[in-house]
Amino acid sequence: ASNEMWGGRFASGPAAVMEAINASIDFDKTLYAQDIRGSIAHSEMLAKQGIISAEDQRAIAEGLRTIQGEIEAGTFAFSRQLEDIHMNVESRLATLIGPAAGRLHTARSRNDQVAVDFRLWVKDELQRFDHALQGLINAFLGRADEHAATVMPGFTHLQTAQPVTFGHHCMAYVEMFGRDLSRVRDARARLDESPLGAAALAGTGFPIDRHMTAHALGFREPTRNSIDSVSDRDFALEFLSLAAICATHLSRLAEEIVIWSTPQFGFIRLSDAFSTGSSIMPQKKNPDAAELTRAKTGRINGHLIALLTVMKGLPLAYSKDMQEDKEAVFDAAETLDLMIAAMTGMVSDMAIQKEAMARAAGSGYSTATDLADWLVRALGLPFREAHHVTGRAVALAESRKVGLDALTLADLQAIHPGITDAVFDVLTVENSVASRTSFGGTAPDQVRKQIAYWRERLQAV
Ligand code: ARG
Repeated sequence: ASNEMWGGRFASGPAAVMEAINASIDFDKTLYAQDIRGSIAHSEMLAKQGIISAEDQRAIAEGLRTIQGEIEAGTFAFSRQLEDIHMNVESRLATLIGPAAGRLHTARSRNDQVAVDFRLWVKDELQRFDHALQGLINAFLGRADEHAATVMPGFTHLQTAQPVTFGHHCMAYVEMFGRDLSRVRDARARLDESPLGAAALAGTGFPIDRHMTAHALGFREPTRNSIDSVSDRDFALEFLSLAAICATHLSRLAEEIVIWSTPQFGFIRLSDAFSTGSSIMPQKKNPDAAELTRAKTGRINGHLIALLTVMKGLPLAYSKDMQEDKEAVFDAAETLDLMIAAMTGMVSDMAIQKEAMARAAGSGYSTATDLADWLVRALGLPFREAHHVTGRAVALAESRKVGLDALTLADLQAIHPGITDAVFDVLTVENSVASRTSFGGTAPDQVRKQIAYWRERLQAV
């Protein structure tokens, strides 16, 4: 049988394979609520403009609400033959209310319909991310507050570099997720335009009111170019981009949690709620949630590349290729939601092992820079020379397999005669972090200032 929507021109229906490649209903039914919202707004506008009668509009809106109830109750029969959510809904509307249903699609095409539905969906999802990211940032702020003065080793090249505080390290993630949050808000502001009324691509001769539908659907304004309205998917690309960046941040955090929770590091202990055991090795506690977060980042990055690749060769305006935008975005959104929730849980629940962190902070000659800085400040040496003198002290300590603070004053004076007793003050990790008072530095007071800044900034939203 030919299609009930465009059967006029067609003598027979599609081949089975055609239906299989063409139908999007299996995934775009996700858009049902947005589709119905958009249709109700469109019908109200058509009635107000005198394009359809008030009576038909009432029947249409009532029918659409019935359909929404059927979908939510699980009694709606989705049909692949009807391709997508738009035609599934319209076809059911015709069954429910008869010929008036056929007036709904006046001055509209599926091209602007799908564009408005998808924008509404992405806009809602950005709102969910906004909340989820705030939750994650708050979890970090809580840990940073508890551990503003907890000393741990800071790393470069994953080699011990200089002592920092765990609170400071947490605040690095607050900055990263804070930028993710601002990207979410920027994207939301940019997509806040309604394409409804662009029709197929050229606009319409009916006297529609696009500002009315834009406002009814909660958009700031209508889009200004009908061709762009149905061609543009950069709101989806932007969504995937910010998702990929955020996922990359989560993945680095996940990697650190994996490292920190090894017995070799022992910086944190995972809660039972966010780890798993081994079926053979009784001693094991594995950071599976972190590992999966790290792995799922690959999926999100893949979705971004997939949609960029779909879009890169498309002439304006709509091409069916664009139907491939949805699975990428839906899956990225669902995956990222889960990743943020899992990492928020892990960060809130992990037990910080202060002693192990402090022990590690003191090893690996982490205060060598402090010694060099002291030589500059106390003895007036040029930094390059101070670096050299310190290097000799480290070599001596290393040959004896001890820390810098275990060298005697005589040892140090043999390397440089000007060194005095006062040097031993700067060799402790506590004094090292306390001395890093530059703006944004790791001194506990600076860390507390940054925490206060973020608490205020989040509240201001
Ligand atoms: N299912 C289609 C999509 O997701 C809806 C738009 C179809 N438009 C068209 N002219 N065939 O893109």
